[in-house]
Amino acid sequence: MLKLLKLMKSLWWQLIIVFIFVALQTILQLQLPGYTNEITAQLSQADPLLGPDMNFILMTGLKMLGISLLGFAAAIGQMVTNASLMANFGKILRSKLFKQVQNYSISNINKVGTSSLLTRINSDTRVLQTFIFMLTRTAIMAPTFMVVGTLKLLQINPMYTSIILIGMPIVLIVIVVTFKIASPLFSLVQEKLDYVTLLFREGLTGVRVVRAFNQEEREFRFFDKANRSMTDVNIKVGKIMEFVNPIISVIFNIAYVSVFIVGFMLFEQSGDATNKILFSQTIGAAGYVNSIMMSFLMLSFIFIMFPRSAASAKRILAALNLEPEIRNNVNALPITEIEDAGVVEFKNVLFTFSDNQHPTLSHISFTTKPGQVTAIIGSTGSGKSSLINLIPRFFDATEGQVLVNNIDVKDYQVNDLRTKIGFVPQQAVLFSGSVRDNLRFGKSDATDEEMIEALKVAQSWNFVKKKEGLDTMVSQGGKNFSGGQKQRLAIARALVRKPNIYIFDDSFSALDFKTDIKLRTALSNYAKNASVIIVAQRVSSIINAEQIVVLDEGKMMGIGTHAQLLSSCLVYQEIVKSQMDKDEIEKTMQIEKDVLAFEGGE
Ligand SMILES: Nc1ncnc2c1ncn2[C@@H]1O[C@H](COP(=O)(O)OP(=O)(O)O)[C@@H](O)[C@H]1O
Ligand SMILES: [Mg+2]
Repeated sequence: MLKLLKLMKSLWWQLIIVFIFVALQTILQLQLPGYTNEITAQLSQADPLLGPDMNFILMTGLKMLGISLLGFAAAIGQMVTNASLMANFGKILRSKLFKQVQNYSISNINKVGTSSLLTRINSDTRVLQTFIFMLTRTAIMAPTFMVVGTLKLLQINPMYTSIILIGMPIVLIVIVVTFKIASPLFSLVQEKLDYVTLLFREGLTGVRVVRAFNQEEREFRFFDKANRSMTDVNIKVGKIMEFVNPIISVIFNIAYVSVFIVGFMLFEQSGDATNKILFSQTIGAAGYVNSIMMSFLMLSFIFIMFPRSAASAKRILAALNLEPEIRNNVNALPITEIEDAGVVEFKNVLFTFSDNQHPTLSHISFTTKPGQVTAIIGSTGSGKSSLINLIPRFFDATEGQVLVNNIDVKDYQVNDLRTKIGFVPQQAVLFSGSVRDNLRFGKSDATDEEMIEALKVAQSWNFVKKKEGLDTMVSQGGKNFSGGQKQRLAIARALVRKPNIYIFDDSFSALDFKTDIKLRTALSNYAKNASVIIVAQRVSSIINAEQIVVLDEGKMMGIGTHAQLLSSCLVYQEIVKSQMDKDEIEKTMQIEKDVLAFEGGE
């Protein structure tokens, strides 16, 4: 919690203003019982014949009114500055979280979970904000009330102080017990909220699937169950908290009444039936006991909120402190000293996901060559995506080495490494904005000509041109484009970069046969000196690759050209057989030639 409070450092002047307002408010409020005292003293000591000095009472009353108004103004000032302090604190917290999450490695995100990160940035942050709001107000007010009140009580008569001395520990016990019981429940509430968010997200993103399979009922049942379970915990917490208020309230009232009992006892002791001073003292003491108890009530609010805030603070801190699994190498070579040869090499790589026992990849060794296509083929789940994810260091090889331009990827600055690679992930992700914005993801200073060229190579210029060219808007998640169009825009984004290494993860399977060929041909011109790594499921997409790596259950079953593998690699033969017969292959190669002869590259 303290660590998070440190984030408020830059807000120190706002904090000071809040404190000044609170101090002002406190001092003003503490003036009031003194004046009440004066009035009651005036009343009780008044001459029986002339009556009390009305002028004096009126003046004192006016003073009290003035002080109250000033206190009111201070309270408003406090509220306004405090609200802005709270908002700014939330902003800092959220941007810290966002920045940290951007630095997460893929396995970090998998570990925490997207939904949990979302609740952390929303709900947990808000809980902390409210806590800060209460805390800044109470931090000064409550202790001041308590100390000044106690001193004044001692001044009047130490007997009154005993009431506080008995009352306070009881309230304290109530608060501590609640804290103990409620604390774990509050953590639980946030966890349940994570789960509800997760289901809600799945229900939203998967809405088509849910409808297509008529599973609305089932989805709703799951959601309802999670929702109810969260509500149950909430009710439980609420019940506990509801007990606290009346108990404290009763203790307060007993304390208040005790003042008068003590007053009565003192009155009896004095044996003077006309002791009017004692009367005004008792009224004054009641005022102070009241404000002390009030400050205690405020503190108890803080304590009630504390378990929940502590739980949220813990969750936020955990997200902030999660070490990115992919660490930047501090001794990395300056990028200018690395020759940009455009070569990727796998040296006996073994890779195991942190939550798996068995390696997903083993004994992977091959080298790409500039100007050549290296294809990776294998059934789904054979480890193709895992393999290429090692190149930009989305994950780190468990054993062996991955080298880019003859240097171990772990010896690069991560950002430097990634600028060397044009990466097209299996899932095409576009961002809301224009096509131009999306392409500039690849290269921030790309000119329109460069972008149009990339779009042409990616066979997307035709459909982009028909809309509004580079200014065509891409809606959230690229929903206004078809799967194949999205895929091609994602390819264009990687092409704009003009790196010497391209990686396409199953990027061509969403394309029709002809577009596939045209794109690959255009690409071979565009990326003449680059290593191109193509992950594919369709043999036809890679039939002309200079080398084909065949993967099966994470192992390399063969490497070579189509012709070589066809004669030597059993797994490759199976793949080919399952997709096309011999005639078809020959036909495919023929069509490919025809298309090229007829249309040329775009
Ligand atoms: N994030 C992950 N955590 C744990 N296991 C994973 C993860 N991603 C993939 N796997 C496992 O690794 C294997 C290979 O997956 P993947 O590389 O995606 O295959 P492909 O791309 O060839 O279809 C699969 O068996 C899958 O269950
Ligand atoms: Mg894959």
